[in-house]
Amino acid sequence: MGDGRTRGKPLVLVASPFQGHMTPMLQLGSVLHSKGFSITIVHTKLNSPDPSNHPEFTFLPLFDNFLAIDASANFTKFCEVLNNNCKMQLQDHLTRKIKEGKEANDEMNQRITIIHDNIMYFVEEVASNLNLPSIVFRSSSASYMPAFLALPKLHAQGQLPVQDSMLQKLVPELYPLRYKDLPFNKTSTELAKEMFALAEHIRAPSAIIWNTIDFLEHSVLTKLRQHYKIPIFAIGPLNEMARGPSTSFLKEDTDCISWLDKQAPKSVIYVSLGSLATMNESELAETAWGLANSKQPFLWVVRPGSVNGSEWIEFLPEGFTEQVKGRGLVLKWAPQKEVLAHYAVGVFWSHCGWNSTLESISEGVPMICQPWMGDQCVNSRYLCYVWKVGLELENLERKVIANAIRRLLVDDEGKEMRQRAISMKEKAKYALCKGGSSFNSLNNLVEFILARF
Ligand code: UDX
Repeated sequence: MGDGRTRGKPLVLVASPFQGHMTPMLQLGSVLHSKGFSITIVHTKLNSPDPSNHPEFTFLPLFDNFLAIDASANFTKFCEVLNNNCKMQLQDHLTRKIKEGKEANDEMNQRITIIHDNIMYFVEEVASNLNLPSIVFRSSSASYMPAFLALPKLHAQGQLPVQDSMLQKLVPELYPLRYKDLPFNKTSTELAKEMFALAEHIRAPSAIIWNTIDFLEHSVLTKLRQHYKIPIFAIGPLNEMARGPSTSFLKEDTDCISWLDKQAPKSVIYVSLGSLATMNESELAETAWGLANSKQPFLWVVRPGSVNGSEWIEFLPEGFTEQVKGRGLVLKWAPQKEVLAHYAVGVFWSHCGWNSTLESISEGVPMICQPWMGDQCVNSRYLCYVWKVGLELENLERKVIANAIRRLLVDDEGKEMRQRAISMKEKAKYALCKGGSSFNSLNNLVEFILARF
């Protein structure tokens, strides 16, 4: 538990209410707790973590008053309400804590470091008002940032949304990204504008913690250090550093593990598009027939509500269930890390969310890449073109899908890709060992925090 200098020193971690952000934030909390710090997790009532899974933390719920706002309908509005509603509550709480610290003559409780999710930008104002150090935590890839920062310029040049004729062309100054890999290339300019507006709220923290690994994103991390001119600590993959209890908002269907136990090694395709992506009825049908026609066993997560206009799998095409009987399992939510670690899983068909990407790399599982939006488009390009452990799904059509699955599960192409994936897994493990890049970066982060107490 640290070396004594950290013992009980308070860190306040402010999480955002999205699964892909909450999970790595809780993992970061576990890692810093193992270094000796005392951890408070500040979270919204919406999508609260389960405190009984983390008796080592103190939890501080904030009342978000979200009833009337749908994050997927208007993300900026959602973030604005989130930040406005939470600001005074956190400031009042910390002011009280500091006052108690002063009254008790307890130096430690007067010097709190706040680590916050980048979406929770209000924290920097609170930190500045109370003269406390703040650090941003980023749970997306580092490679996403240059693309994101370039969006306003591309927008001003009239290059967004991207014209069909440009999709396959390389974006000048963003090699190896093509226009189709830009975040928000397919969505409306409105969403792109909303995202820029959000970025403007993010002020100057004292440092950035990134859930990534130096060998994966070395050159972009170097560029980002020059750009931000503050320390950047690349301490991932946090899913490996903190192998703790479930952090899922939805109930994990653990029965799928005994189903996997009955399958042949490296024979199963695991399909999951994360906690936010949605699809329409025809995309559901193409996915279903692609899986059926591949003739391979599959484990398919269809999140409740993720198929537009339905509660769960009411729109599955007629005849599908009979055709795949005994060969496939459709479930609402999986224990993903356990699934990816299972010997029967040979390929992960993913939307390339950054957590899913890191979890797949950590287990040496090659991927079929079907990005949905944002950083996933960039992650997919790196997986397929730079790291060469992913196959881009060109179209969501049953023939293309069945072909991609068989290329990776049956053909030699899949074996070669698996070899590369396994060597990446080894490198990722090495980064966490004594002397490895993430191991060192974490120690540097601890020193950085201590220097501010
Ligand atoms: C979002 C963004 O989409 C992502 O790109 C960004 O980097 C972080 O926030 P999300 O879309 O949910 O997250 O994807 P991802 O980052 O992959 O996170 C999903 C998490 O849910 C993973 O940790 C995964 O293990 C977990 N999961 C997913 C399950 O536990 N069970 C499932 O069935 C599906």
